[in-house]
Amino acid sequence: MPLLLAGAASFILAACTPAGKTAPNAGTAAVLSAPDARDIHSYARPEVARVTHVALDLRADFAAKRMAGTAALDVAASPGATEIVLDSKGLEIASVTDRAGRPLQWAVGANDPNIGAPLTVQLNGANRIVITYKSAPDAAALQWLAPEQTAGKKLPFLFSQGQAILNRTWIPTQDSPGIRQTWEARIVVPENMVAVMSGERLTPRGEAVAGGGKAYRFRMDKAVAPYLIAIAAGDIAFQPLGPRTGVYAEPATLKAAADELVDTEKMVEAAESLYGPYRWGRYDMIVLPPAFPFGGMENPTLTFLTPTMIAGDRSLVSLIAHELAHSWSGNLVTNAQWADFWLNEGFTTYFESRIMEALYGKQRADQNIALGWDSLQDTIQGAGGPASPNTRLHLDLTGRDPDDGMSDIAYEKGAAFLRTIENTVGRQRFDAWLRSYFDRHAFQPITASLFLQDIRANLVRGDAALEGKLMLDEWVYQPGIPANVIAPPTAAFAAVDAAVKAYMASGQPPKTFSNWNTQERLRFLDALPRDLGSGKLEELNDALTLSESGNSEILFAWLQLAIANRYDPVVPVLENFLTSMGRRKFVAPLFAALARQGEWGLPIARRIYAKARPGYHSVTSGTVDETLKGS
Ligand code: BES
Ligand code: ZN
Repeated sequence: MPLLLAGAASFILAACTPAGKTAPNAGTAAVLSAPDARDIHSYARPEVARVTHVALDLRADFAAKRMAGTAALDVAASPGATEIVLDSKGLEIASVTDRAGRPLQWAVGANDPNIGAPLTVQLNGANRIVITYKSAPDAAALQWLAPEQTAGKKLPFLFSQGQAILNRTWIPTQDSPGIRQTWEARIVVPENMVAVMSGERLTPRGEAVAGGGKAYRFRMDKAVAPYLIAIAAGDIAFQPLGPRTGVYAEPATLKAAADELVDTEKMVEAAESLYGPYRWGRYDMIVLPPAFPFGGMENPTLTFLTPTMIAGDRSLVSLIAHELAHSWSGNLVTNAQWADFWLNEGFTTYFESRIMEALYGKQRADQNIALGWDSLQDTIQGAGGPASPNTRLHLDLTGRDPDDGMSDIAYEKGAAFLRTIENTVGRQRFDAWLRSYFDRHAFQPITASLFLQDIRANLVRGDAALEGKLMLDEWVYQPGIPANVIAPPTAAFAAVDAAVKAYMASGQPPKTFSNWNTQERLRFLDALPRDLGSGKLEELNDALTLSESGNSEILFAWLQLAIANRYDPVVPVLENFLTSMGRRKFVAPLFAALARQGEWGLPIARRIYAKARPGYHSVTSGTVDETLKGS
């Protein structure tokens, strides 16, 4: 991409990068010249000096809830640069030296509650700096689980969650998605534990450590955004699924996990035939304890998963299609900064449905698209309507925690945008462009303006009529949904939609419910009016056994309906659900729904939250704290 390399800063940095690392880093530096690549959620000044490689040597101290040891950072500095600025939050730093152990001057600036504090190191000519430090016991990226919070109940468990800007609470580096870094790690855990990370696992069985514990070593030789460095440790076993796929889980969960995930290898193959080779070697997954705050997290080579995706019938595996798709959109081509989160999630949601279609057919894929579309309409309403700036794809996150901007808009409006382009130019042409887009931007950051430049240069190619039809700028920069949107096919749910009407007319719960798949059941429950009343809810629950559902998505849909109706018999079920898992997508809306039910719901919310909160990850409790604050 010679044109993009023209910026002076990028030339300087590419030239100064240590030999052998020029290729992945050159593109990174180049993109910094795009005006919308600046990351307001990082203190780093990569045009002056940037981290190219991170080497961690850490011990996981479960008693103190700290990671402690060293981070050695390779630095590429521009000529004349005297210092490097890193991101940090709550780290206890003991010393900073050069590679020979000579002390370097360093200072931690004022802490901002959202983005943490700059850690500035005087380089004194060093191109490698070694930081000796500890993470704080309340580091937001890390959750230290007590044995009772695990399936086995015997050993504690640790996992990390880096996205969006949490990794600075345990790794002192430039924590910005546009600053790609290779990394390696040596992690010491207690003797009876296994550690896994989001890179090549070099020591599957671990190595004995003098003085106790076991060391596990890892390596990621492709430059990745630092939010993608992730760790888990505990009583972890492994089961292969296919030649390059497998699943890690606690022994008690492993069999159910492996059964649920049997199709993973096929998904990787389907993804490759759509948009090009899987470039990360292995695709493994780890099913974490239920406190994991997300459905899934696309950590390279090792997707992190909630156990609530195990339904027993593989009906929630679109989550795997989604996290796998991030191996292209997100991990290969990465949003340069969080205002363009849609470039990760919108592309991934589109790609997810293409994988689902390839494996399970158009009907199933269309059902997921239709459910996503409904949730987009709700999100737009919740954001204050289609004029709200929060309904833009490219966001203004000035003064905000990036987490606040991360709504369904990025996912579902982003995917609707790509479906609209696909429909306008035809699938074949769209797929050819998308595949080449992944190749052109592989291992590089992307921004809204670079995306627009790419699609104009390589898909629109000066066709004025097509340019007019696509409304590209309106999709990216304006609120609401542009007029050219291709709304999803509704035929996929025709039978369910008819059953909703029949139920409203007759009051008879549908006899066919038990024959429906999960998506059809969800469509039915979500379509019911919120004011049915307790009598009708009791009939529904008796006929459809909703409170007993082992499917987390169905239980969630039912609980929302029940709360809206102030249906008392559901409260113990709700309490059990909210105290047995910490997935934010379920937890936060349920507490919000309770809060909306004022004098009925608030006391229930407060009572359950007091009990549940200690078990939640900080991203979940942070959101619920906000919800319940004023009420
Ligand atoms: N990358 C996200 C998770 C994420 C988003 C973490 C924002 C931190 C900040 C992941 O790929 C994701 O989107 N997970 C979804 C599931 C998906 C099927 C919509 C989730 O966790 O619910
Ligand atoms: Zn995602």
